[in-house]
Amino acid sequence: SNSWIPVANQEDLIEDDVIGINVNGHPVALYLIDGEVFATDNVCTHGQALLSDGFVEDGEIECPLHQGKFCIKSGKAMCAPLTEDIKTYETSLDGEKILVRFE
Ligand code: FES
Repeated sequence: SNSWIPVANQEDLIEDDVIGINVNGHPVALYLIDGEVFATDNVCTHGQALLSDGFVEDGEIECPLHQGKFCIKSGKAMCAPLTEDIKTYETSLDGEKILVRFE
């Protein structure tokens, strides 16, 4: 079953930046890109690194450990050494609250 979980407030996010949160104990990265909120898994698909410690540029998140890049909107792995896309989550707004759709 899917449920929408309130995870943060809009004021917690900074344009072109990322924060790390926990949703039901699961590490999720939240981004604000061109005024739109996006969510992905926070642990890189390549190793034990948190994408929220990485760097957002041109709609991509760069992993801090080996500089692999994912497209934030699609989760697609964009370059080596990544071989696996990152899971993305739907987001929505309820007033100031950010909700993430989480299974
Ligand atoms: Fe992210 Fe290696 S752990 S690119």
